[in-house]
Amino acid sequence: MLERIEQLEQEAESALAKVSASEELEAFRVRYLGPKGAIKGLMGLLKDVPREQKPAFGQKANGLRQKLESALEERRQALGGGSASRGEASGKGRRGPMIDITEPGIPAGLGRRHIITRTINDLLEVFGRMGFDVATGPEVEDEWHNFTALNIPPRHPARDPLENYYLTDPDGANPFLLRSQTSTIQIRVMEKTRPPIRVVATGRVYRPDEHDATHYSMFHQVEGLYVDRKVSMVDLKTTLIQFARAMFGAEADVKLVPSYFPFTEPSAELYVKIELGGKWQWMEIGGCGMVDPAVFEAVGYDPEEWSGFAFGLGIERLAMRKYNIPDIRWLFENDVRFLKSF
Ligand code: DAH
Repeated sequence: MLERIEQLEQEAESALAKVSASEELEAFRVRYLGPKGAIKGLMGLLKDVPREQKPAFGQKANGLRQKLESALEERRQALGGGSASRGEASGKGRRGPMIDITEPGIPAGLGRRHIITRTINDLLEVFGRMGFDVATGPEVEDEWHNFTALNIPPRHPARDPLENYYLTDPDGANPFLLRSQTSTIQIRVMEKTRPPIRVVATGRVYRPDEHDATHYSMFHQVEGLYVDRKVSMVDLKTTLIQFARAMFGAEADVKLVPSYFPFTEPSAELYVKIELGGKWQWMEIGGCGMVDPAVFEAVGYDPEEWSGFAFGLGIERLAMRKYNIPDIRWLFENDVRFLKSF
């Protein structure tokens, strides 16, 4: 008797595998799961089953029914038909697609912008109020814009193939790479405009960094460039502190620490206090400095006449501080529960 069920299971499975259209699926349903179908037929056999086998038989037959029902539903979805269960609930025994148009629909979840996009919009708004225009540049760059014009000489460690995503032979004539910094855009802007200049530019940058709570191999930067006569370090400091206060609130702890970059002199790093792993600590959010005369020379500006400051900040890190996110990786996992919580 139990064998009869197994036989039926095999038969039904191979029949379902052959189904390729919704009419065939409906025929399958009638044949196996309908009121006069094979499963019903099995139940009819129950009375002939020896008494001690009845529970096992009943269980097995029911199990098969459930299995076929879910296989049927899965197939229905795969064939592009919606779920039938709601239609059947309100239209017992009827055939064909049944939709109860009086039932409330399934609300479509309202989408929202990703935190990175929102942070970019926020910071552009802040810099916009300070008078900065928006510039852009390509993600695939050449050596000149990513290194040479930025006063990064040949064989400088920043050019190391292990530190960059080269797209062509790094020792070839004019290698291309995924830009490692948005400072490239400073050069592109200065090459085609005369001072005074006041621009910010946002975009993706790429570095083969090991992923951890504060590092990722692709991230976003905002680059700033201000060129005019008699620009000073005070202008730079004021701009960055004002920016940080506008982004994080007046109480945010920020500081500038002396540093080194080939394209600025003097140079500094901007830090902000952030709670990571239950502990308040300083997190570096970017670099800045006074544009090095060598950079002005590379783009044909007279360094005696023009002065300027520049900065490059990590947008993910700005977002982490602003939205209290302790791990940069969460920004790219695209777990809807995380994204929805902002
Ligand atoms: N490009 C640097 C980086 O990716 C950041 C930076 C430092 C940008 C100093 C600047 C600057 O414009 O002046 O680490």
